[in-house]
Amino acid sequence: MRQDILEYLLEHKGQYVSGQKISELFGISRTAVWKHIHVLKQRGYIIDSFTKKGYCLQQAPELLNVEELKEELGDYLLGNTLYYYEKVDSTNNICKRFGMTDAPEGTVVIAEKQTGGRGRLERTFLSPFAKGLWFSVLFRPPFAPMESSKMTLLAAVAVANAIKKNGLSCQIKWPNDILVDSKKLVGILTELNASMESINYLVMGIGVNTNISKKELPRDLKKIVTSFEIEDVSVNRTELLKEILGQLERYYDMAKTVGFGPILEEWRTLSGMLHKNVEVISHNTEYEGKAVDIDEDGNLLVETDQGIKKVIAGDVRVRTKE
Ligand code: BTN
Repeated sequence: MRQDILEYLLEHKGQYVSGQKISELFGISRTAVWKHIHVLKQRGYIIDSFTKKGYCLQQAPELLNVEELKEELGDYLLGNTLYYYEKVDSTNNICKRFGMTDAPEGTVVIAEKQTGGRGRLERTFLSPFAKGLWFSVLFRPPFAPMESSKMTLLAAVAVANAIKKNGLSCQIKWPNDILVDSKKLVGILTELNASMESINYLVMGIGVNTNISKKELPRDLKKIVTSFEIEDVSVNRTELLKEILGQLERYYDMAKTVGFGPILEEWRTLSGMLHKNVEVISHNTEYEGKAVDIDEDGNLLVETDQGIKKVIAGDVRVRTKE
Protein backbone atom coordinates (compact mmCIF):
# COMPACT_ATOMS: atom_id res chain seq x y z
CA MET A 1 0.00 0.00 0.00
CA ARG A 2 2.77 2.43 0.97
CA GLN A 3 4.52 1.57 -2.29
CA ASP A 4 1.30 2.39 -4.23
CA ILE A 5 1.00 5.76 -2.48
CA LEU A 6 4.66 6.44 -3.16
CA GLU A 7 4.31 5.62 -6.84
CA TYR A 8 1.28 7.92 -7.05
CA LEU A 9 3.24 10.74 -5.39
CA LEU A 10 6.20 10.11 -7.69
CA GLU A 11 3.91 10.38 -10.73
CA HIS A 12 2.75 13.75 -9.38
CA LYS A 13 6.13 14.95 -8.13
CA GLY A 14 6.07 18.70 -7.46
CA GLN A 15 2.25 18.86 -7.46
CA TYR A 16 -0.18 18.81 -4.54
CA VAL A 17 -2.49 15.83 -4.26
CA SER A 18 -5.21 15.84 -1.64
CA GLY A 19 -5.37 13.34 1.23
CA GLN A 20 -9.01 12.78 0.27
CA LYS A 21 -8.04 11.81 -3.27
CA ILE A 22 -5.39 9.34 -2.05
CA SER A 23 -7.75 7.82 0.50
CA GLU A 24 -10.44 7.32 -2.19
CA LEU A 25 -7.96 5.93 -4.72
CA PHE A 26 -6.60 3.28 -2.37
CA GLY A 27 -9.69 2.71 -0.21
CA ILE A 28 -8.06 3.68 3.09
CA SER A 29 -8.84 6.32 5.71
CA ARG A 30 -7.19 9.74 5.65
CA THR A 31 -5.50 8.86 8.95
CA ALA A 32 -3.97 5.81 7.27
CA VAL A 33 -2.76 8.05 4.41
CA TRP A 34 -1.20 10.41 6.95
CA LYS A 35 0.58 7.47 8.66
CA HIS A 36 2.04 6.23 5.36
CA ILE A 37 3.21 9.75 4.50
CA HIS A 38 4.80 10.00 7.94
CA VAL A 39 6.79 6.80 7.34
CA LEU A 40 7.88 8.03 3.89
CA LYS A 41 9.13 11.27 5.46
CA GLN A 42 11.12 9.25 7.99
CA ARG A 43 12.70 7.41 5.07
CA GLY A 44 14.05 10.60 3.62
CA TYR A 45 11.25 11.57 1.20
CA ILE A 46 10.71 15.31 1.39
CA ILE A 47 6.94 15.80 1.30
CA ASP A 48 5.28 19.12 1.99
CA SER A 49 1.83 18.96 3.56
CA PHE A 50 -0.74 21.71 3.82
CA THR A 51 -4.20 21.29 5.35
CA LYS A 52 -6.18 22.54 2.38
CA LYS A 53 -3.86 21.42 -0.40
CA GLY A 54 -2.74 17.92 0.57
CA TYR A 55 0.67 16.42 -0.02
CA CYS A 56 3.43 17.35 -2.44
CA LEU A 57 6.50 15.16 -3.00
CA GLN A 58 9.46 17.50 -3.46
CA GLN A 59 12.41 15.13 -3.35
CA ALA A 60 12.97 11.39 -3.18
CA PRO A 61 16.09 9.91 -1.54
CA GLU A 62 18.59 8.42 -3.93
CA LEU A 63 18.48 4.67 -3.36
CA LEU A 64 21.31 2.27 -4.12
CA ASN A 65 21.34 1.10 -7.71
CA VAL A 66 21.06 -2.64 -7.08
CA GLU A 67 20.77 -3.61 -10.73
CA GLU A 68 24.03 -1.84 -11.53
CA LEU A 69 25.74 -3.44 -8.54
CA LYS A 70 24.56 -6.92 -9.53
CA GLU A 71 25.61 -6.42 -13.12
CA GLU A 72 29.07 -5.10 -12.32
CA LEU A 73 29.93 -7.31 -9.35
CA GLY A 74 28.74 -10.58 -10.83
CA ASP A 75 32.22 -11.56 -12.02
CA TYR A 76 33.98 -10.79 -8.77
CA LEU A 77 34.28 -12.79 -5.58
CA LEU A 78 32.83 -10.07 -3.34
CA GLY A 79 29.32 -9.22 -4.42
CA ASN A 80 28.80 -12.31 -6.60
CA THR A 81 25.69 -12.89 -4.50
CA LEU A 82 23.97 -9.80 -3.30
CA TYR A 83 20.96 -9.29 -1.02
CA TYR A 84 19.39 -5.86 -0.80
CA TYR A 85 16.85 -4.87 1.84
CA GLU A 86 15.05 -1.63 2.59
CA LYS A 87 15.13 -2.25 6.33
CA VAL A 88 16.74 -4.88 8.55
CA ASP A 89 17.77 -5.06 12.20
CA SER A 90 21.45 -5.51 11.33
CA THR A 91 23.09 -6.63 8.08
CA ASN A 92 25.63 -8.53 10.23
CA ASN A 93 22.79 -10.58 11.76
CA ILE A 94 21.45 -11.51 8.31
CA CYS A 95 24.92 -12.24 6.95
CA LYS A 96 25.71 -14.49 9.95
CA ARG A 97 22.58 -16.48 9.15
CA PHE A 98 23.87 -16.91 5.58
CA GLY A 99 27.21 -17.96 7.06
CA MET A 100 25.49 -20.92 8.77
CA THR A 101 24.17 -22.14 5.41
CA ASP A 102 26.22 -23.01 2.34
CA ALA A 103 26.01 -19.42 1.07
CA PRO A 104 29.09 -18.66 -1.04
CA GLU A 105 32.02 -16.62 0.14
CA GLY A 106 31.60 -13.06 -1.07
CA THR A 107 27.88 -12.85 -0.30
CA VAL A 108 27.03 -9.22 0.41
CA VAL A 109 24.03 -8.02 2.44
CA ILE A 110 23.09 -4.34 2.07
CA ALA A 111 20.28 -2.37 3.66
CA GLU A 112 19.04 1.17 3.26
CA LYS A 113 18.30 1.28 6.98
CA GLN A 114 19.21 -0.70 10.09
CA THR A 115 16.99 -0.62 13.16
CA GLY A 116 19.53 -2.43 15.33
CA GLY A 117 22.88 -1.49 13.81
CA ARG A 118 25.64 -2.70 16.13
CA GLY A 119 29.20 -1.65 16.78
CA ARG A 120 32.02 -3.05 18.84
CA LEU A 121 31.66 -3.33 22.61
CA GLU A 122 27.84 -3.70 22.31
CA ARG A 123 27.45 -0.12 21.10
CA THR A 124 24.61 0.92 18.84
CA PHE A 125 25.40 2.21 15.35
CA LEU A 126 23.13 4.84 13.86
CA SER A 127 22.01 3.77 10.36
CA PRO A 128 19.18 5.97 8.99
CA PHE A 129 17.43 5.30 5.69
CA ALA A 130 19.57 6.01 2.59
CA LYS A 131 22.01 8.14 4.59
CA GLY A 132 24.99 5.82 4.43
CA LEU A 133 26.31 2.46 3.34
CA TRP A 134 25.30 -0.24 5.80
CA PHE A 135 26.48 -3.62 4.56
CA SER A 136 28.14 -6.89 5.51
CA VAL A 137 30.37 -9.27 3.57
CA LEU A 138 30.62 -13.02 4.16
CA PHE A 139 34.16 -14.42 4.11
CA ARG A 140 35.32 -18.00 4.48
CA PRO A 141 39.03 -17.27 4.92
CA PRO A 142 41.58 -20.06 4.66
CA PHE A 143 43.43 -18.63 7.68
CA ALA A 144 43.87 -19.84 11.24
CA PRO A 145 41.29 -18.26 13.59
CA MET A 146 43.98 -16.21 15.33
CA GLU A 147 44.66 -14.40 12.05
CA SER A 148 41.09 -13.08 11.94
CA SER A 149 41.74 -9.82 13.81
CA LYS A 150 43.97 -8.81 10.91
CA MET A 151 40.94 -8.99 8.63
CA THR A 152 39.61 -5.89 10.43
CA LEU A 153 42.87 -4.06 9.69
CA LEU A 154 42.68 -5.28 6.08
CA ALA A 155 39.15 -3.86 5.82
CA ALA A 156 40.24 -0.56 7.36
CA VAL A 157 43.04 -0.21 4.76
CA ALA A 158 40.68 -1.12 1.89
CA VAL A 159 37.92 1.25 3.00
CA ALA A 160 40.38 4.10 3.72
CA ASN A 161 41.72 3.78 0.17
CA ALA A 162 38.22 3.84 -1.28
CA ILE A 163 37.32 6.91 0.81
CA LYS A 164 40.45 8.72 -0.37
CA LYS A 165 39.65 7.88 -3.98
CA ASN A 166 36.28 9.54 -3.38
CA GLY A 167 37.89 12.81 -2.37
CA LEU A 168 38.11 12.70 1.42
CA SER A 169 41.35 12.34 3.32
CA CYS A 170 41.06 10.14 6.37
CA GLN A 171 43.03 8.23 8.99
CA ILE A 172 42.57 4.81 10.55
CA LYS A 173 41.98 4.54 14.29
CA TRP A 174 42.97 1.20 15.74
CA PRO A 175 41.37 -1.19 15.30
CA ASN A 176 38.18 -0.51 13.41
CA ASP A 177 37.28 3.12 12.79
CA ILE A 178 38.07 5.54 10.03
CA LEU A 179 38.21 9.16 11.06
CA VAL A 180 38.23 12.52 9.34
CA ASP A 181 39.81 15.17 11.56
CA SER A 182 39.25 12.93 14.62
CA LYS A 183 35.54 12.39 13.82
CA LYS A 184 34.17 8.99 12.93
CA LEU A 185 33.20 8.45 9.29
CA VAL A 186 33.30 4.63 9.18
CA GLY A 187 32.90 1.78 11.66
CA ILE A 188 33.84 -1.84 11.02
CA LEU A 189 32.51 -4.80 12.98
CA THR A 190 34.10 -8.19 12.35
CA GLU A 191 32.32 -11.25 13.74
CA LEU A 192 33.72 -14.73 13.66
CA ASN A 193 32.48 -18.29 13.79
CA ALA A 194 35.39 -20.71 14.10
CA SER A 195 36.55 -24.00 15.51
CA MET A 196 39.99 -24.40 17.14
CA GLU A 197 41.60 -25.09 13.75
CA SER A 198 39.69 -23.17 11.13
CA ILE A 199 37.29 -20.34 10.44
CA ASN A 200 33.77 -21.43 9.46
CA TYR A 201 32.83 -17.93 8.44
CA LEU A 202 33.74 -14.35 9.14
CA VAL A 203 31.26 -11.52 8.71
CA MET A 204 32.64 -8.09 8.08
CA GLY A 205 30.11 -5.33 8.67
CA ILE A 206 30.93 -1.87 7.40
CA GLY A 207 29.05 1.35 8.04
CA VAL A 208 29.95 4.54 6.14
CA ASN A 209 28.18 7.82 6.86
CA THR A 210 27.57 9.40 3.49
CA ASN A 211 24.74 11.92 3.58
CA ILE A 212 23.77 12.29 7.22
CA SER A 213 23.62 16.02 7.95
CA LYS A 214 24.79 17.53 11.21
CA LYS A 215 21.26 18.38 12.28
CA GLU A 216 20.19 14.74 11.90
CA LEU A 217 22.83 13.57 14.37
CA PRO A 218 21.81 13.13 17.99
CA ARG A 219 23.39 15.72 20.29
CA ASP A 220 25.92 13.27 21.81
CA LEU A 221 27.24 12.34 18.34
CA LYS A 222 27.51 15.84 16.82
CA LYS A 223 31.08 16.34 18.04
CA ILE A 224 32.38 12.84 17.33
CA VAL A 225 30.72 11.72 14.08
CA THR A 226 31.01 13.03 10.54
CA SER A 227 29.82 12.17 7.03
CA PHE A 228 30.74 13.00 3.43
CA GLU A 229 27.93 15.55 3.50
CA ILE A 230 29.17 17.21 6.69
CA GLU A 231 32.65 17.36 5.14
CA ASP A 232 31.14 18.98 2.03
CA VAL A 233 32.23 16.20 -0.32
CA SER A 234 29.57 14.81 -2.65
CA VAL A 235 29.58 11.07 -3.14
CA ASN A 236 27.56 8.54 -5.09
CA ARG A 237 26.75 5.68 -2.70
CA THR A 238 26.58 3.04 -5.44
CA GLU A 239 29.99 4.05 -6.81
CA LEU A 240 31.50 4.18 -3.32
CA LEU A 241 30.19 0.70 -2.50
CA LYS A 242 31.69 -0.70 -5.73
CA GLU A 243 35.02 0.94 -4.92
CA ILE A 244 35.04 -0.43 -1.36
CA LEU A 245 34.23 -3.97 -2.49
CA GLY A 246 36.88 -3.75 -5.23
CA GLN A 247 39.52 -2.61 -2.73
CA LEU A 248 38.44 -5.27 -0.22
CA GLU A 249 38.80 -7.95 -2.85
CA ARG A 250 42.25 -6.66 -3.88
CA TYR A 251 43.58 -6.72 -0.30
CA TYR A 252 41.93 -10.06 0.47
CA ASP A 253 43.68 -11.57 -2.57
CA MET A 254 46.94 -10.06 -1.34
CA ALA A 255 46.49 -11.58 2.15
CA LYS A 256 45.82 -15.00 0.61
CA THR A 257 48.75 -14.89 -1.78
CA VAL A 258 51.57 -13.01 0.00
CA GLY A 259 50.23 -12.71 3.55
CA PHE A 260 49.28 -9.71 5.68
CA GLY A 261 52.77 -8.11 5.80
CA PRO A 262 52.29 -5.45 3.07
CA ILE A 263 48.78 -4.71 4.32
CA LEU A 264 50.01 -4.03 7.87
CA GLU A 265 52.69 -1.80 6.36
CA GLU A 266 50.03 0.20 4.54
CA TRP A 267 47.95 0.29 7.72
CA ARG A 268 50.89 1.98 9.49
CA THR A 269 51.04 4.75 6.90
CA LEU A 270 47.27 5.32 7.07
CA SER A 271 47.10 5.26 10.85
CA GLY A 272 46.30 8.48 12.64
CA MET A 273 47.29 6.98 15.95
CA LEU A 274 50.90 5.89 15.75
CA HIS A 275 53.41 8.09 17.61
CA LYS A 276 50.59 9.82 19.50
CA ASN A 277 49.87 9.79 23.22
CA VAL A 278 46.88 7.59 23.91
CA GLU A 279 44.57 6.43 26.70
CA VAL A 280 43.78 2.74 26.73
CA ILE A 281 40.75 1.15 28.36
CA SER A 282 41.08 -2.59 28.16
CA HIS A 283 39.71 -5.38 30.38
CA ASN A 284 38.66 -2.90 33.09
CA THR A 285 42.11 -1.33 33.32
CA GLU A 286 43.05 2.13 32.13
CA TYR A 287 46.48 3.42 31.32
CA GLU A 288 48.27 6.00 29.23
CA GLY A 289 51.21 5.78 26.90
CA LYS A 290 52.37 6.33 23.37
CA ALA A 291 51.10 4.17 20.48
CA VAL A 292 54.32 3.05 18.82
CA ASP A 293 53.41 0.28 16.38
CA ILE A 294 51.23 -2.73 15.59
CA ASP A 295 52.78 -6.19 15.84
CA GLU A 296 52.58 -8.93 13.20
CA ASP A 297 49.26 -10.10 14.70
CA GLY A 298 47.70 -6.65 14.38
CA ASN A 299 47.80 -5.85 18.12
CA LEU A 300 48.56 -2.26 19.09
CA LEU A 301 51.82 -1.70 20.96
CA VAL A 302 51.75 1.07 23.54
CA GLU A 303 54.87 2.33 25.27
CA THR A 304 54.16 3.03 28.94
CA ASP A 305 56.24 3.77 32.05
CA GLN A 306 56.08 0.03 32.72
CA GLY A 307 57.35 -0.89 29.26
CA ILE A 308 55.59 -1.89 26.04
CA LYS A 309 52.03 -3.12 26.49
CA LYS A 310 50.18 -5.08 23.85
CA VAL A 311 46.54 -4.07 23.30
CA ILE A 312 44.56 -6.99 21.90
CA ALA A 313 41.09 -5.56 22.48
CA GLY A 314 39.62 -2.45 24.01
CA ASP A 315 39.13 1.22 23.46
CA VAL A 316 42.03 3.48 22.60
CA ARG A 317 41.69 7.25 22.49
CA VAL A 318 44.23 9.71 21.23
CA ARG A 319 44.89 12.25 23.99
CA THR A 320 44.07 15.74 22.85
CA LYS A 321 45.56 17.56 25.90
CA GLU A 322 49.15 16.90 26.92
C1 BTN B 1 31.79 0.21 15.41
O1 BTN B 1 31.54 1.40 15.33
O2 BTN B 1 32.28 -0.29 16.44
C2 BTN B 1 31.51 -0.67 14.23
C3 BTN B 1 30.25 -0.27 13.51
C4 BTN B 1 29.89 -1.24 12.39
C5 BTN B 1 28.60 -0.86 11.72
C6 BTN B 1 28.28 -1.77 10.58
S1 BTN B 1 26.92 -1.16 9.63
C7 BTN B 1 26.77 -2.69 8.82
C8 BTN B 1 27.00 -3.76 9.85
N1 BTN B 1 25.79 -4.10 10.57
C9 BTN B 1 25.88 -3.79 11.86
O3 BTN B 1 24.97 -3.99 12.69
N2 BTN B 1 27.07 -3.27 12.13
C10 BTN B 1 27.91 -3.19 10.96
